[in-house]
Amino acid sequence: MRLSRRQLLAGGAAAGLAAGGIYELVDQLGGSPSRPAAQGLTPEQHLLQGVRVVEDNGVEVVVPPLHHQLVTARVKVGESKRELTDAQRSLEDALAKLDAQFEQSPAGLGVTVAWGLPYFRRFVPKLADQHIPVDLRASKSKAKPVPVLLDSRRFPSDPEEMLLESNDVALLLRSDHLDHIAAGAKAIGDLGVFELTSIRKGFAGGGFEGGQGLPKKMAVAAQVPGSFLIPDGSELFLGFTSTQKAGLGPPKIANIEELGFSPGGYFAQGTHLATSHITEDVEAWYVNFPHQERVSTVFRPGLEVKEDVQTVPQGPNDVSDTARVHRDFATSKQIGHSAALQTVSRLAKTAVGTSGAIYGPGTAIPHRADFNTLDNPFFWSADPERDAMSDVPAAGVHFVVFNPSSDDFNRGRLAMDGVLPDGTKLPFHPRDRGQGFNSILRTTHRQNFIVPPRRHRSFPLVELLA
Ligand code: HEM
Repeated sequence: MRLSRRQLLAGGAAAGLAAGGIYELVDQLGGSPSRPAAQGLTPEQHLLQGVRVVEDNGVEVVVPPLHHQLVTARVKVGESKRELTDAQRSLEDALAKLDAQFEQSPAGLGVTVAWGLPYFRRFVPKLADQHIPVDLRASKSKAKPVPVLLDSRRFPSDPEEMLLESNDVALLLRSDHLDHIAAGAKAIGDLGVFELTSIRKGFAGGGFEGGQGLPKKMAVAAQVPGSFLIPDGSELFLGFTSTQKAGLGPPKIANIEELGFSPGGYFAQGTHLATSHITEDVEAWYVNFPHQERVSTVFRPGLEVKEDVQTVPQGPNDVSDTARVHRDFATSKQIGHSAALQTVSRLAKTAVGTSGAIYGPGTAIPHRADFNTLDNPFFWSADPERDAMSDVPAAGVHFVVFNPSSDDFNRGRLAMDGVLPDGTKLPFHPRDRGQGFNSILRTTHRQNFIVPPRRHRSFPLVELLA
């Protein structure tokens, strides 16, 4: 069954928000797993409650929500304080209604509202300069004040045609239930304060209960080349589990203030969101990369893993530091995606958070919330030509990650390309075969956002306008 985008979207953006399209298959093919109860709302918008942890290959794995939707938009209200505070009130009312209707969990609906630099520059430039916190670590290494939110940048392995986006706002919706996502998207879409620029849809998880797993079922249904080679039960198109508990930051660690990256202030209990869309050449991955090379480029060169293993232990004792990455590169001319990233994404020594939490060496910092997609590159775009929209489903990831700051994300993303935190730049051509698995990835879009704490999630700072 091949469903063209044009058939689905006769009704434009509004229809796109509610329409499931190929993603309705997720419910037919998957079905929502049982979940522990949620415990009230956190001050953080990006944390989900009631998340289930299962064990695979003796490793604890977080079961992500089934459905995901990321909507980007521009603000379409006037710049007067009156218009902005009216918009702030109507958005906050709608979000508060969703909070009352759904618990902040996969069983309910996770809602995260994030704001881009274009919003702050247009509506509250002076207040933003005053209140967007400084990243103390980045400021020290750059010997000048560096804010926690920076414009998104290009990385060595990015293709020329990748677009750096300039949306005012992004809305992330996560749930096991497609109708909860549709309800959330409609509640915000109907407010009339936003002009949508894109709708991005996807799914995650799948095979922990046995059987084929969602990525394979969805890719096969959409006839993605090479999809029949995806291992049954795999959580991702590329065959390896990516949400093992040890590889995801503990609850508060990605908060702007938690590790002392910045005082936080107005944005304390907020975090930084980096989003990108990445296509994956599934066929090339399984046809051109033998099993051992897939393991070496995802995890670490030379790591031995049995053919049928999908969840590879990456606990604090399995972490690679810069010296290890150099040694492995010297012998193999390869870097592992995880190993290279771990030089930045894991704590080198014990840290005590401002919340009082104690984090041991090897604790992960980034909170990844990425999800698989068949969007090409988006489910819907207000500018199909600029976004190179195609009707043909394509395997990819809507990459979503929460870090304490843009600089912290940039350091990780650079390490993924072999630009290590000790300042060394391993000699790779963009998307070289040994550069992790970058050779089968193509990033098409990227943008950074700040996620305010729940108390300031709607039109941040406008209430402070004179
Ligand atoms: C299509 C794109 C990508 C895929 C399929 C992918 C897949 C994976 C997988 C399978 C792991 C290992 C999971 C584990 O050990 O638990 C991983 C780890 C990770 N990835 Fe990616 N990834 C992708 C892109 C990215 C990007 C763009 C970033 C941005 C910086 C990123 C950041 C990370 C981080 C921080 C880790 C955890 C490393 C650690 O601390 O162990 N990934 N990814």
